[in-house]
Formats: sequence, C-alpha cells, structure tokens
Amino acid sequence: MDMEKEKIRRKIKSIKSLPTLPAVAQKVSKMAENDNTSAQQLGKIISTDQALSGRVLRLVNSSFYGFPGRISSISNAIVLLGFDVVKSLIISVSVFEMMEKGVIGLWEHSLGCAIVSRMLAKRVDDCDPEEASVAGLLHDIGKVVVSMQLSENYEDIKKLIVEKKIIFSDAEKEVLGFTHQDIGGWLTESWNLPVNLQEPIAYHHQPLKAQKAKIPTAVVHVANFLTRAMGFGSGGDPWTPPLERKAWERLGLTMQDLEEIIEELGDEFESVEAESLMSEGE
Ligand SMILES: [Fe+2]
Ligand SMILES: [Fe+2]
Repeated sequence: MDMEKEKIRRKIKSIKSLPTLPAVAQKVSKMAENDNTSAQQLGKIISTDQALSGRVLRLVNSSFYGFPGRISSISNAIVLLGFDVVKSLIISVSVFEMMEKGVIGLWEHSLGCAIVSRMLAKRVDDCDPEEASVAGLLHDIGKVVVSMQLSENYEDIKKLIVEKKIIFSDAEKEVLGFTHQDIGGWLTESWNLPVNLQEPIAYHHQPLKAQKAKIPTAVVHVANFLTRAMGFGSGGDPWTPPLERKAWERLGLTMQDLEEIIEELGDEFESVEAESLMSEGE
C-alpha cells in the first residue's frame, strides 16, 4: 500500500494542471518575504493579472466577505485583510474556478464553511477571523484535486459512498489509501501557507491531531459540521460528517452562542445564495 500511496502522491505532485499558485501569486510570495515590500508594491504586481484581481475584489466586496463595496483595490485589500489572506483568496478563486463543474455544490459548501468559520472565530480567543475564513474556504481543496486529477478513482469513491453509506473521506481511504485532507495538507505545505491554514485544512476531520493551530482547526471542523448540518452546498456525499465533541469543547462556546450563530447563519446563507458569486458575468 505504501508504494502505491507514494506513487499516487508523486502523481499528484507532478501533474501540471494541479492547482499550483498562479504565477503572479508566486512572484508576490517571494516579494512578501522581504519586510521592505509595501502593500502598494504587492498590490501593483497582483493587479497585473486583471482577471484574477477582478475576481478577488469581487469576492472581498461581496456580502460573503462583509466589506460590501468598500475595498477598491488589491493593495487596499492587503492592508485590510493581510497578505496571507489575500494570497489564499487568490488561490481559492483560481482553484474553484477550475472546478466549477467538478464536485457539484462544493463551492457553496466552501463559502458556507468560510462564513461559519469567521463567525465562530469572532467568538473565540486566539483565532483570527479572516484567517479562519480562508481556512474554511480552502478546507476541501483536496476534493478538487481528487475530482479533477484522479477522476477514475473519483467515480469509484462516489459509488462506494452510496453502496456502503460512508462519508467521502472514508471512501477515499478505501479507494486511494489517503484522503482529501492529506492532499490539502501537501498542497498547503507546498504553497508555504501559514500553519494556521495548513493544520485546519489537513485535520478538519480529525481536529485533535492539530499540533500548533488547535483552535483554528477546531473552528473549521465545527464550521464544516454546521454547514453540512444546515444543508448549505454539498461536500460530494449525502452525509453530515461526525462532530468531534472535544473540538467543540475546545472553543469554549455555550449553547446560547450556538443558537445565535445558527440564527445569524440563516440570513447569511440566504444573501450569499442570492448573489451567485462565481458564475455570472464572466
Ligand atoms: Fe472535508
Ligand atoms: Fe467540507
């Protein structure tokens, strides 16, 4: 099995159309390592890719993002949201654009999870809401890779989900020997994303495995559960994944918090659904 796993892992790493960072984001990543680089300089480089920056601006100005119509430029977005968040948004729009037809409902599920992650993060200590939100947005990115690059296996996974009535990642384990969380972990590592994004993505189904980003991982885990439980979007299977009780406890939230969050979510989901962020006008 290990040989086989290594083979697929290598296959994943070598595929050209694998969601690599867009050229612009790679360039910007390098620049951002230099402390003397300003948000303006970064914004200028990103803006050279107009289609990409257009999509990012559209996303941050949507009701999903909570700054409706207020962010006029990429450098503005970098100042307000921070570079890591903007970089992850660039990845998100690039990746999800490629997969619109892949896993039906996954973009909505991801947006939903991003919204819930931000809401939860606002109520707990030690968790940056913007960072949590992009972790939520990218958490199932491995599923994009499975559906696009391992399409034969993807068909087998879908069959197994129905036949055995198991969740997506259990079916992946049987078919591939690894899961979309593993893929997400490899990808985010190769993209040099911060650990507060890496761990929530790699461990969103086993949140207690997180070593450094325990709270952000618990946030995305609970957010994923709530998004599925409320039936917003689809994760590629009809089942709501189990909730790890200890992860919920880690957040230190009360039942009253939960009730308020669920109430707020009803409205948020409605406005995002009405807006259809990715499809129209492009
Ligand atoms: Fe997942
Ligand atoms: Fe998910």
